[in-house]
Amino acid sequence: MAESVSTKMDGPAKAFKGKKFRVAIIGCGGIAQAHLEAFKSIPEVEIVAGVDIDANRLVVMRDKWGVPEENLFGADIKTGKTTSDTAWVEMLKKVKPDAVDVCTPNGVHCAPIVYCCERGVHGFVEKPMAMNPGECEKMIAAAKKGKVKLSVGFQHRYRPACQALIEARRNGVFGDIMFVKVRALRRRGIPNWGVFGRKELQGGGPMIDIGVHMMECAYEFMGCPKPIAAMGNTWTYIGNKKDKTNVRSMWPGWDWKTYTVEDLAIGQIRFDNGAIMQIEASFAAHMKENEVHEFSAMGTKGGCHFPSAEIYTDQNNTMVNIAPAWMDSRGEGWTVLFTTKLQNWVDACRKGTKQGASGEDGLNVQKMLNGIYDSAAAGHEIKI
Ligand SMILES: NC(=O)c1ccc[n+]([C@@H]2O[C@H](COP(=O)([O-])OP(=O)(O)OC[C@H]3O[C@@H](n4cnc5c(N)ncnc54)[C@H](O)[C@@H]3O)[C@@H](O)[C@H]2O)c1
Repeated sequence: MAESVSTKMDGPAKAFKGKKFRVAIIGCGGIAQAHLEAFKSIPEVEIVAGVDIDANRLVVMRDKWGVPEENLFGADIKTGKTTSDTAWVEMLKKVKPDAVDVCTPNGVHCAPIVYCCERGVHGFVEKPMAMNPGECEKMIAAAKKGKVKLSVGFQHRYRPACQALIEARRNGVFGDIMFVKVRALRRRGIPNWGVFGRKELQGGGPMIDIGVHMMECAYEFMGCPKPIAAMGNTWTYIGNKKDKTNVRSMWPGWDWKTYTVEDLAIGQIRFDNGAIMQIEASFAAHMKENEVHEFSAMGTKGGCHFPSAEIYTDQNNTMVNIAPAWMDSRGEGWTVLFTTKLQNWVDACRKGTKQGASGEDGLNVQKMLNGIYDSAAAGHEIKI
C-alpha cells in the first residue's frame, strides 16, 4: 500500500551516466505512445524492444522511437501479418530486457506479466491491473517469485490535488471518512478505437476503464481500508445499438456490433471500518455535463472534493469552504503525470525506493471492480 510517495518533478531530463534501464514495450498502441513520450524525460531508460500483433504499430516503434527492426516482435513488418500473440516469449529470450512495460488490452495484461516477472524481469502494467482478482494474484506471485517490482499504471493519485487531500486526511482534517462518492461519467463518449466495447478482452466497460481511475485515487485518499462487500448494477442501452439518430458526439461510429460491455454502472463498496464508497461510471449517461471525473468525501469533521481540492469544514463557529490559492499545475499535465508514475516505478526497480501503485494496490481495486460486476450479475450484495 502506498501511503506517501515522492511526486517531485525533476524538470528537464539530465544526462544519465550509468547502466541504462533497458525497457521493452509490450503493446505499442495508443497509451504506449504516451509512455514513450514520458520516457523521454527519464534519461536512465532505454527502449530496447517492441512487441505487438499489429505490424503498423511496430513500424512506429522503428521509425519514430528508433527501435531496431530485429528487436520488434509479434508481426512481420514486410508482410504486415501477425506472427505470434505471445511474442514476449521470443523477445525475452533474444533481447533480455531489465523490464517490460505492458500496454496491451486488459485481457492481455496477466500473461506477459506472469511470464516476464517470473523470469526476473521487472513489470509495469497499465490500468486496470487485469480482468479479475485471480489474475492479479497470479501476477503478484510471479513478481515475488522473480524478486522483481510490479507497478500498476494509475496516475491520478500523483496529481497535486490528490496529494493535498491525502495530506489533509493524514492531518485529521476530515476526522473519520464515512462516505465517498466517485463519478467517472461521459454523456456520450464510447471509445471508437481499440477493443473497449468487448467484454471478453476488457473485462467490462466504463467502470473498469474510466471508473477505475477515480476509484483508485479516491481509495488511496481514504487510506486504503479493507473492502468487504459490494453491491451494484450495470445497464447497456446505447452502445450495442446502431445510432439511428446520428446524435453528434466526440467519438461517433463506435463498433456497436461487438459491444458487449455496460453503458452505465452504479455500485457501492462497504469497507471494514464502516465507510461506504459509491461509484457511478458511464460511457453514455443522460446528464447535464459532457464529462465528469471527480470524487467527493464526507467525514466526521470535514469533507472535500477532487480535483478542486476544496475542503468543507467548520472554523470559528462558521461553516467554511476552503479552496487552494495555488496548485502546481505542471503536475497535472498528461505527459508529466505519465513521467511521474513511470519514474516512480523505475526508481523502485533500480534504487528500491517506495513504490506508488503496487500489485497489491491493483488487486484491492480489482476486488472492488469485480465485486460490483459480480453483484450486478447475481442481483444482490456479495462479500469481497
Ligand atoms: N492510464 C491511462 O490513462 C490509460 C489511458 C488509455 C488506456 N489505458 C490502458 O492501456 C491499455 C491499452 O489501451 P490503448 O488505448 O493503448 O489500446 P490500443 O488498442 O490503442 O493499444 C493496445 C495495443 O496492444 C496490441 N496487442 C493486442 N494484443 C496483443 C498481444 N497478444 N501481443 C502484443 N500486442 C498486443 C494491439 O495491437 C494494440 O496495438 C488498456 O489496458 C487501457 O485500459 C490507460
